[in-house]
Amino acid sequence: MRAWMLERTGPPEVLRLVTVASPEPGPGQVAVEVEAIGINYAEVLSRRGLYGWAPRRPYVPGMEATGTIAALGEGVHGREIGERVVVGTQHGAYAERLVVPARRALPAIDGFSVEENAAFGVNFMTAWVALMEMARLRPTDRVGITAAAGGVGTAAVQIASAYGCRVVGMAGSDAKLHLIRELGAEAGVNYRRPDFERRLAEVAPDGALDVVLEVVGGDVYRACQALLANFGRIVVAGYAGLDYSLWNPLSWWRAWRGAPRMNVSDSAVASTGVLATHIGYLLPDEERLLSVWGALTAFATGHGLRPVVGSTFDFADLPAAHRLMESRDSVGKLVVRLEGARPASLSL
Ligand SMILES: NC(=O)c1ccc[n+]([C@@H]2O[C@H](COP(=O)([O-])OP(=O)(O)OC[C@H]3O[C@@H](n4cnc5c(N)ncnc54)[C@H](OP(=O)(O)O)[C@@H]3O)[C@@H](O)[C@H]2O)c1
Repeated sequence: MRAWMLERTGPPEVLRLVTVASPEPGPGQVAVEVEAIGINYAEVLSRRGLYGWAPRRPYVPGMEATGTIAALGEGVHGREIGERVVVGTQHGAYAERLVVPARRALPAIDGFSVEENAAFGVNFMTAWVALMEMARLRPTDRVGITAAAGGVGTAAVQIASAYGCRVVGMAGSDAKLHLIRELGAEAGVNYRRPDFERRLAEVAPDGALDVVLEVVGGDVYRACQALLANFGRIVVAGYAGLDYSLWNPLSWWRAWRGAPRMNVSDSAVASTGVLATHIGYLLPDEERLLSVWGALTAFATGHGLRPVVGSTFDFADLPAAHRLMESRDSVGKLVVRLEGARPASLSL
């Protein structure tokens, strides 16, 4: 089968399309024939060597895909060949086929297209865990979402808005603010404008936020933290602004300075909290994940929420999806389709 391999860190061109043996399911596992892959910013960070949860190279990246069950491992009962599923995994999804524990092959969502099923899992789970499990959102909360036009961001804006919250979406360009408002936010602010902090304070309902889902870091994190109301919670789920190079000591300082942190004394004065989450580390806790998945899918389907698929790519063009994501010009989720992929070239 064909798969994209990461052997060394660097720009998107370091990803190599190779042929490898098709994996067969072991006991308790299923093999999934992949139809579409969801691209995540974490995979861009892994490719650059900046992601702590990445396995040792060389490996096939890719954390989520949708497709059909193609083979059952020993001891797998109650599952069927041909069943449509979505899967989350640490790596291995940039391939025509992958193997996962049977319990982690979740039923694809009825009524979603193949692209939407590829786009849903990681983004909506991250937004849901941050907002509902960590921040314990209430419908009366005023909610700030950063990178709000991206994959996780568009999920979070929809979830918080559907829950009844007043939402302020933040993004890195004016062009993205329209989408954020269309998804339910009452205001949008561009954090790359010099008057960002003042504008954020102006549009936040009564000048404050109760909950923030923060994935950018640096000045964006600090501005959001400064606006937290009493009992406010900021949930850190990413650091997209991380700018770090192993060989540049100045970048070490920049990365350290931009990293989200808190001062407990200051938090005591305002009664605020900083929380952090990473759904990857929850993967082994299958019971919890399944219960969270059940609550999330019931909420999403009940409120008619759908992932925003911003762009789709052929499998053979997968590095172009990385390029678009790191350009900051992407909106919503980037999805790679297996169907219609051009004949494989074995390296870029
Ligand atoms: N904790 C978890 O379990 C978990 C799971 C999934 C994702 N995440 C995190 O959530 C964030 C969003 O992930 P995603 O996959 O949905 O990606 P995404 O939001 O679709 O794309 C990344 C976005 O980050 C923003 N960004 C801010 N500073 C940037 C920079 N210096 N370089 C590039 N982009 C920058 C850009 O939007 P603007 O130009 O609008 O700023 C860009 O579009 C990432 O930080 C990711 O690591 C965390």
